[in-house]
Amino acid sequence: MKKILVTGGTGYIGSHTVVELINSGYKIVIADNLTNSKIEVLDRIEKITGIKPQFEKLDISDSKATKAFFETNNDIELVIHFAAYKAVGESVQKPLMYYQNNLNSLMNILTEMSRHNIENLIFSSSCTVYGQPDILPVTEQSPIKKADSPYGNTKQVAEEIISDTIFSNKNLKSIALRYFNPIGAHKSALIGELPIGVPNNLIPFVTQTVAGKREQLSVFGNNYNTEDGTAIRDYIHVVDLAQAHLVATERLLDKNNKLDFETFNIGTGRGNSVLEVINTFEEVTGEKINYKIAPRRLGDIEKVWADTTFANKELGWKAKLSLADALLSAWNWEKTQ
Ligand code: NAD
Ligand code: WQD
Repeated sequence: MKKILVTGGTGYIGSHTVVELINSGYKIVIADNLTNSKIEVLDRIEKITGIKPQFEKLDISDSKATKAFFETNNDIELVIHFAAYKAVGESVQKPLMYYQNNLNSLMNILTEMSRHNIENLIFSSSCTVYGQPDILPVTEQSPIKKADSPYGNTKQVAEEIISDTIFSNKNLKSIALRYFNPIGAHKSALIGELPIGVPNNLIPFVTQTVAGKREQLSVFGNNYNTEDGTAIRDYIHVVDLAQAHLVATERLLDKNNKLDFETFNIGTGRGNSVLEVINTFEEVTGEKINYKIAPRRLGDIEKVWADTTFANKELGWKAKLSLADALLSAWNWEKTQ
């Protein structure tokens, strides 16, 4: 059997996806430069699945190194491209670093896929491409709004690069998965989101506050046009998200499918406010969160959640795990840190 290349496979979403792929019998090679993940993740994956995936330390934004990698790994059938920088705020401070890493990596992958006749690509996109949608829940047909950050722009431009490349190379097919807000960790608590510095995202901030690493959580804004005044997002369990990659893999490898480029919303279809997240966390863990209401965070949108009809029907995929499941798993992961 040929292999699946998972770039960024030691990272948060990548590691959970590798577990699902191995459990379904796929052979994996991970390429990651470990800028935002640790090599120990490989042992953790082995503990969960019984198999240690092949690993290559590689900077995919380096075209020469990537070319050499594809020359020695000539049995790749499909690429899942996670490798990217993802911190929205940092991208505003260091836009070129984000454009260089995220876009050069993608172009190197597409170049080598074309050179080696590799036909299948799954790309990590984001609901950030929608900005604040005019109509909710947001469908894949909603207009792409001007990106709020260089990071968001890398995802918009990346989708265009893939679409243009497919137009010129009829052998290539791709699925872009637009993730909503991934949270939680594997039930084993052996893999999860690596906390580096002060977290920007809500859930790591919540768990670190309860663990005593942060003093107090700030709830950014309680004067939004929502029921309780706090902002609404579609929080998806990372294991559900990982499974979406599995079904996307099967769809691409199905020779009867004549697709070229498809985009899917990968969310739960449910929106939850920040206060709902806090209350659910407290209920499910029995822990109290020290929080205060603070001003709105610059650049935040009011509300977004996914219309997942297309993914449900076409991919045959649906998020199964609840917000409570996800928050409990995030807390169990935090306790191991
Ligand atoms: P992560 O930082 O945990 O994982 C990304 C991995 O890519 C890391 O292991 C990092 O070391 C690696 N990497 C970065 N640049 C690289 C390069 N040039 N060469 C090789 N490896 C490189 O992030 P994640 O949360 O797992 O996100 C994975 C993907 O999903 C990213 O493309 C991200 O933009 C996208 N995404 C994430 C979220 C989210 O909230 N986590 C939401 C939407 C989309
Ligand atoms: C969620 C909600 C905050 C922290 C980001 C990226 C997006 C995507 C997912 C990659 C918001 C509130 C947060 C805190 C709070 N990533 N909050 N106090 O901003 O929806 O999305 O991650 O593609 O592109 O922008 O996620 O977890 O930062 O915030 O009140 O300390 O929690 O205001 O309403 P966000 P988040």
